[in-house]
Amino acid sequence: MWRILPLLGAALLVGGQAPDADRRSGFDFMAPETQALQQDDASNPGMLWVLDGEALWQESAGPAGASCAGCHGDAADSMRGVAARYPTFDSTTGRPIDLQGRINQCRQARQGAEPFAAESQELLALTTTVAHQSRGMPVEPVRDPALAPFVEEGRRLFERRIGQLDLSCAACHDQRWGQKLGGSVIPQAHPTGYPIYRLEWQSVGSLQRRMRNCMIGVRAEPYAFGAPEFTALELYLRSRAEGLPVETPGVRP
Ligand code: HEC
Ligand code: HEC
Repeated sequence: MWRILPLLGAALLVGGQAPDADRRSGFDFMAPETQALQQDDASNPGMLWVLDGEALWQESAGPAGASCAGCHGDAADSMRGVAARYPTFDSTTGRPIDLQGRINQCRQARQGAEPFAAESQELLALTTTVAHQSRGMPVEPVRDPALAPFVEEGRRLFERRIGQLDLSCAACHDQRWGQKLGGSVIPQAHPTGYPIYRLEWQSVGSLQRRMRNCMIGVRAEPYAFGAPEFTALELYLRSRAEGLPVETPGVRP
């Protein structure tokens, strides 16, 4: 938990989002040992989720017994670059959908199987495997005009003050990045490593879980997993991370 928060809350916060040249992944703010853990596939614990997801990719499910691989073939080919352009617009709901939502949509509509629960091992593993196929590729700019209102919605949520500490996401991640908060450095909140292996969790977790942690940190009531607010925030985070390389599976403290 962050102990110096009241100080931050009292401070007059000025400034804005990091200019493009200053855009930095949370990776850059980590200790060299943690960076090394992410960079070496043999020691990155997130790679276990990638392997698990590869096995699930081959498994048949639902009444028709269809596997992801049965329709999509090799994930390394068919899923390459996909995570770099998610969340994307979902014409069936008229709203943005994130990668986990898209995987669950296929699971229901194409396999006829029950959707995976939020933060379940299966959903995290499949999402990590799919996102891993974009590692090193730049996050794509949000070009679809249908997404524009939702980027704005995400920005509004990011800039809104929340919780007993009355702080916005922007107060920390746009205006205070690089500064220390308790024992942690405040990163710019880029979504490039997700799902991440977080040392504090001893597990892989989603971007929504990470955002829920921040909301609880400022003593706000976190949105539920899958809430439209989270998808809008994820989309806004994508728009402000444009050009940064996908890192999945990222490692974070
Ligand atoms: C009081 C400051 C503060 C506020 C307010 C805050 N965060 Fe954070 N956030 C942090 C810190 C510090 C970390 C680094 C991890 C930690 O807690 O050790 C972090 C980490 C993150 C990360 C992970 C980035 C990475 O490299 O993996 C994301 C994404 C994020 N925050 C999003 C948000 C969103 C969205 C909000 C608003 C709902 C928010 N944060 C509000 C301080 C804050
Ligand atoms: C019966 C065939 C079938 C099965 C089984 C299937 N999919 Fe799909 N999937 C599709 C089709 C067709 C599309 C694209 C058309 C659409 O929008 O539905 C798609 C789209 C996707 C996308 C979005 C790709 C993009 O470019 O935006 C992802 C991610 C995905 N599937 C993952 C999965 C995963 C993971 C599984 C296994 C849990 C799975 N799919 C099972 C047929 C299938």
